[in-house]
Amino acid sequence: MITLIVLFVLFMICISMIWNWSQTSELSGIPAVKPRWPLFGNALFFDLTKTHIVLTELAQKYGPVFRIKLYGDEIVVLNDYKSIYSALVANGNEVAGRPSMYRTEHADRNRNSIVWQTYTPKLKMLRKEVHKSLRMFGDGLNSLEDKCFPEVEALIARIRDTDGHPFDPWDYIYDTTCNVMLLLLLGVRFSYTGDELTQLKEISRLFNHTFGSGSGSRLDVIPWLHILRNQDFSVLKSALKLRNSFWEDRIKDLPIKNDSVVADLLRLTENPGIDVTETTVKETFTNLILAGTDTTATAMTCLLLILIHRPEVQDRLQAELDTVVGQKRKPCLADRAVMPYFEACVLELLRYISHVPLAVPHSTISDTYIEEHKIPADTTIYINLWAMHHDASFWNDPWVFQPERFLDEHGCILPPQHEFRRRVMAFGAGRRVCLGEVLAKNRLFLFVSAILQNFSFEAADIQSIPDMDPRTYSLGLVLHPGRFKLKAKRRDR
Ligand code: HEM
Repeated sequence: MITLIVLFVLFMICISMIWNWSQTSELSGIPAVKPRWPLFGNALFFDLTKTHIVLTELAQKYGPVFRIKLYGDEIVVLNDYKSIYSALVANGNEVAGRPSMYRTEHADRNRNSIVWQTYTPKLKMLRKEVHKSLRMFGDGLNSLEDKCFPEVEALIARIRDTDGHPFDPWDYIYDTTCNVMLLLLLGVRFSYTGDELTQLKEISRLFNHTFGSGSGSRLDVIPWLHILRNQDFSVLKSALKLRNSFWEDRIKDLPIKNDSVVADLLRLTENPGIDVTETTVKETFTNLILAGTDTTATAMTCLLLILIHRPEVQDRLQAELDTVVGQKRKPCLADRAVMPYFEACVLELLRYISHVPLAVPHSTISDTYIEEHKIPADTTIYINLWAMHHDASFWNDPWVFQPERFLDEHGCILPPQHEFRRRVMAFGAGRRVCLGEVLAKNRLFLFVSAILQNFSFEAADIQSIPDMDPRTYSLGLVLHPGRFKLKAKRRDR
């Protein structure tokens, strides 16, 4: 038996060396991070819970474009604006793929979801349909306000009930953000006291474990780990099982509204000429509810954390709100255009935190170039947004939260074509740009402006709140600062 195991390991090392050599020769112009071990590549030398920070440090040594090997996969890492722009925009068609991964091929997710599907005609069609169904333009924005306002009121009521006592804002913010997503996707909301929202949080936690921190990537290159009852595989299985039972037991019997995203997608399943099945709708729903909730809820929570560390930013936001909106009506989306400081805070929040620091892995769908580097088809590409957003050779004091950098000398917001704005790509860019950018920014505005109109926030205990510096956050699918408590003081008293 031992001889068989030794032979098997030697066989795997030989295969890995041959594969390594064939991939390496094509990418030989790009510096490779050393040392590399057979089978593991660089993985043994990386803290995979902080991949974005490790890669940014490596860029100091190897330059803005380098390659790493994680287990069997040779990955090209892009760390500066020029290379990222070249990949996502200038050569956007060729770099629009997603790498094949055991984790996403399992249960056919790669053929039915948006996030994990490579750049196929079906993916393009799904993106177009969802974009249309989300209705983030024209009258759709009035309808977004109608969906948000009752949730805003509910959030304000929950905060008011804390009566100045310390509370952890995460669940309140998550529930509200999730309910707006549910209203868009299904036309229904869940009660704060029922167990549906708790189940959704658990599904999110399990998928975060599988796809977020990096350790789950072992499954992609050593899929037979699942035979050994590997923990990452068990978590992936639990996530899918819980998601499936949630879909069967909680979603399918709901009175789904006609003008919702899921209703629009279900109508496509009736068209035999289109490859959209119930599995496609379920996967797309999963993508949207998870990507649409965790990201925005975390962004809102991080902004609150920043405000309790930096009360002068809160004061200035409230001064702008008092001038533009006052206390007699609630803020609405039309106010966004005349609140430049608020807009600057959101841009700086997106740059400073870089909530999805490595975007989602891309891959090349044909041979292409990124700047002068020739990249063969099927190469995995990591987009290090974190490095670009904190590049000290471009940004002054990149680790200081400074909204004023996005304002001109008259206090107006810099135009979208200004270099500072072009270099904030928190939602990615090009063919795979986030589908929720407009929704996320509008929702952030409606919720944050409403709570700041009603309350001022301060730390429950300044000693025990997390640092606002995102280098201290933990990495899941999104960067999280950890739980903390704050106090809300009513402004009408
Ligand atoms: C602050 C909020 C958000 C941030 C920072 C964010 C960021 C991102 C990033 C960096 C990507 C990867 C782009 C790439 O692959 O190059 C992405 C993809 C995606 N996001 Fe968001 N996102 C946010 C909110 C949302 C919301 C509200 C939705 C809901 C509609 C959403 C849905 C998606 C989807 C479906 C994709 C996959 C697109 C594809 O693979 O083609 N996101 N997001």
